[in-house]
Amino acid sequence: MTDTTAPVAFPQSRTCPYHPPAAYDALRAERPLTRITLFDGSEAWLVTGHATARALLADPRLSSNRDRPGFPAPTQRFAGIRNRRTALLGVDDPEHRAQRRMVVGDFTLKRAVELRPRIQQIVDERLDAMIAEGPPADLVSAFALPVPSMVICALLGVPYTDHDFFEAQSRRLLRGPETADVLDARDRLETYFGELIDRKRQDPGTGLLDDLVHRQPRAGGLDREGLIAMALILLVAGHETTANMISLGTFTLLQHPERLAELRADPRLLPAAVEELMRMLSIADGMLRLAVEDIEVAGTTIREGEGVVFATSVINRDETVYPEPDRLDWSRPARHHVAFGFGIHQCLGQNLARAELEIALHSLFDRLPTLRLAAPAEEIPFKPGDTIQGMIELPVTW
Ligand code: HEM
Repeated sequence: MTDTTAPVAFPQSRTCPYHPPAAYDALRAERPLTRITLFDGSEAWLVTGHATARALLADPRLSSNRDRPGFPAPTQRFAGIRNRRTALLGVDDPEHRAQRRMVVGDFTLKRAVELRPRIQQIVDERLDAMIAEGPPADLVSAFALPVPSMVICALLGVPYTDHDFFEAQSRRLLRGPETADVLDARDRLETYFGELIDRKRQDPGTGLLDDLVHRQPRAGGLDREGLIAMALILLVAGHETTANMISLGTFTLLQHPERLAELRADPRLLPAAVEELMRMLSIADGMLRLAVEDIEVAGTTIREGEGVVFATSVINRDETVYPEPDRLDWSRPARHHVAFGFGIHQCLGQNLARAELEIALHSLFDRLPTLRLAAPAEEIPFKPGDTIQGMIELPVTW
């Protein structure tokens, strides 16, 4: 039975960076749907069951338009910025379909396969540099962040030389302490992309953004503001998430030496391992929607105007789908996890992210067979529950 009398506060922070917050244990028993309170005291539904999550994520009666009254805001930061234009993730069909069509060709499986040699080259260069300077090293700043950052820059046609600027602003956007920080970071990124797009109009390059700028007048799709919003989501979603998966994936493997030994012995396990790490780590823990009609689901009615939050980490530990869900197990079919979302907003960059994770993790442990933590695991800082999960720093040695 769903307990509607005592809602749990959402979000909560994890106690172990690769397990759901302990405060959600009770919710696992309450599957598939429960009530939560958000930072401002408002209530929303929290989806925790796998089948219910997939049904709802595919349901057009749930909107992603953050501008609608009642759209759930898990943090003050999100509330302060939600009326700013968000491409793809913040729009519903048919606008969403039109936007997705403009970019999907650059994120196909075929394109990810074509990009593999370039990704390998970037990974090798970063490892060369880290090895030349260490040990020890902070794996986040030396490897986990620069690899996806360089890859997405190359794909979009954004100069990597600007990375200090856009990484710092992305960090403020996703984790700024005050709403003012978040708005300022957003303003700076918008100005940056506006200027970049104007330069590309004069002097076209070869990236996806160049393509969009020069294709758009004919396609009649995105205006300058729309192009800025598209560039922003592709750059931010394209580096922060994968960086967190590389750092947290490395930490998790180092905490599971027997699993790591299996991977080292047989690299063909890598695709399955990446999928299982995606399920287990569920770093995007809290997808957001608003019901625009009443929805009957799992014996409950979600009313029009109510917020719906998806607890990815809990959904991906549903024992009816994943027996012994807390165990890292390459042999299980983890493929139907929702760590990349599901439905029309399912991650655009998932093929690219999988390629980056496979290459980064394989090369890291191959080049550094003695890689280990350079500090006690419990002292290594990881991100709080109100943002994408990952390591803040990862001191390593070899
Ligand atoms: C391992 C790394 C990644 C994770 C865990 C991840 C996770 C997710 C999730 C959960 C969603 C769905 C959100 C929702 O439905 O509310 C999503 C959407 C999205 N992701 Fe990723 N992502 C990753 C990598 C990437 C990369 C490399 C890109 C490259 C640009 C990217 C671009 C996007 C975009 C544009 C969307 C919105 C798609 C839409 O609304 O149609 N992501 N991602």
